[in-house]
Amino acid sequence: MKHTDIKKLFQNPQDYIDQSVVICGWVRTARDSKTISFIELNDGTCLKNIQLILEKENLQLDDMKNAMVVGASLRVEGKFIVSEKNGYEITVTDIKVLGECPQDYPLQKKRHTLEFLRTIPHLRPRARYFEAVFAVRNQLSFAVHKYFNENDYKYVHAPIITGSDCEGAGEMFRVTTQPWTTDFKSEEEYYQNDFFGQKAGLTVSAQLEGEMAAMGLGRIYTFGPTFRAEHSNTTRHAAEFWQIEPEVCFAEIDDIIEIAEDFIKYIIRYVMDVCSEELQFFNQWVEPGLIDKLNNVVNSDFGRITYTEAVEVLKKSGKDFKYPVEWGCDLQTEHEKYLTDEYFKKPVFVVDYPKDIKAFYMKQNDDGKTVAATDLLVPGIREIIGCSEREWDYKKLESAMLQRGMPLEMYKEYLDTRKFGSVPHSGFGLGFDRAMMYLTGVQNIRDTLLFPRTVGSL
Ligand code: 4AD
Ligand code: MG
Repeated sequence: MKHTDIKKLFQNPQDYIDQSVVICGWVRTARDSKTISFIELNDGTCLKNIQLILEKENLQLDDMKNAMVVGASLRVEGKFIVSEKNGYEITVTDIKVLGECPQDYPLQKKRHTLEFLRTIPHLRPRARYFEAVFAVRNQLSFAVHKYFNENDYKYVHAPIITGSDCEGAGEMFRVTTQPWTTDFKSEEEYYQNDFFGQKAGLTVSAQLEGEMAAMGLGRIYTFGPTFRAEHSNTTRHAAEFWQIEPEVCFAEIDDIIEIAEDFIKYIIRYVMDVCSEELQFFNQWVEPGLIDKLNNVVNSDFGRITYTEAVEVLKKSGKDFKYPVEWGCDLQTEHEKYLTDEYFKKPVFVVDYPKDIKAFYMKQNDDGKTVAATDLLVPGIREIIGCSEREWDYKKLESAMLQRGMPLEMYKEYLDTRKFGSVPHSGFGLGFDRAMMYLTGVQNIRDTLLFPRTVGSL
């Protein structure tokens, strides 16, 4: 079906003015008057609709009747003309209804609540809001690949099914093909008989595999889905989310922090360049001041504070926190919120966390108490990046694993990287869907994903 994208008409109007064009799309609005009718058509190639002018005496009445229905899909032929009121429009010479749309089409109104749209994820890409979300999501993904490609990272595809729990938080979804029966005498026997002959699950992070790849390829990144069976029913947690995980050899904590900041600024700048219309939309309807915020982010330095200093700041804040702050505690939402939204009012790296609240693989600092790890916290969302220098000393890594009761035999290959030519290296994980929230002002992670998976909802 040879037709022209609506986006092309708006991008290069001079190529089409006063010429006959064919376009296809879905009816967004339809208005009838005595001799003329108007349809706004959208084909998903851009946020803008094109206005169709239908002169009744020139068109078949039957076609008209089925075409003047919100949600119907059309193939339209007509003349593309300049219009004083709308910029451009099409005076229709032929109209064909591709798919009729009955009255129970749920997207009748111009504006629906996000809660309602969440109940129809299969249809919501037809709503303007989600057209804008998925346009940004597409360009943001592209920006990620572009950044790493330009900086000589190799894109590696880490496995999704794995035997190791990288974060050690016990949040892995299990992968199995066999039902449990009482014939199995032990859990061990059950797993031995299972598809992989051992316990398997969906990855919570590609980091461990990424490290092994980097320890030969030098600089790599992964960009894929990760899965966590977290029972946190919040606006920032999904059970299936996308993570970008670069791993860089010969980089220490300060080097990776510099990379993370450069990377975040680059991808924001890219999206600001290519999605200005979508960002205007979010700025107008979703987060007033969004564009100013993003401009500030790309043009100023991120904040930086040690965990120990942050605890002092929180203690001196005079705030009546629900969870009291003491050195060694995990920072709660309210604490992070104070640091980002009130104290710094911009993205901030909190560095050198107590080792007991962080993962086993992080480099132990000389103080014996903290690790060379940082979270990047941003206003409104809080943590979007988890980052660290990795422990590259075999003995120290082994002892951190033993302290946590980890089965060393499961991590033999990982430990091998520290045995055979170990090097300092660092990496981070950016939650892609949270980055989407930050860039668009979308308040709920469920509205950044095509089919969100969260606890209790598939
Ligand atoms: O801080 P996390 O757990 O770090 C890691 O997984 C490291 N292995 C990364 C690395 O160093 N390669 O997760 C990284 C980021 C978080 O900062 C957050 O943005 C996002 O992943 N994230 C989630 N996003 C949505 N839903 C969830 N349930 C998430 N859990 C983590
Ligand atoms: Mg984290």
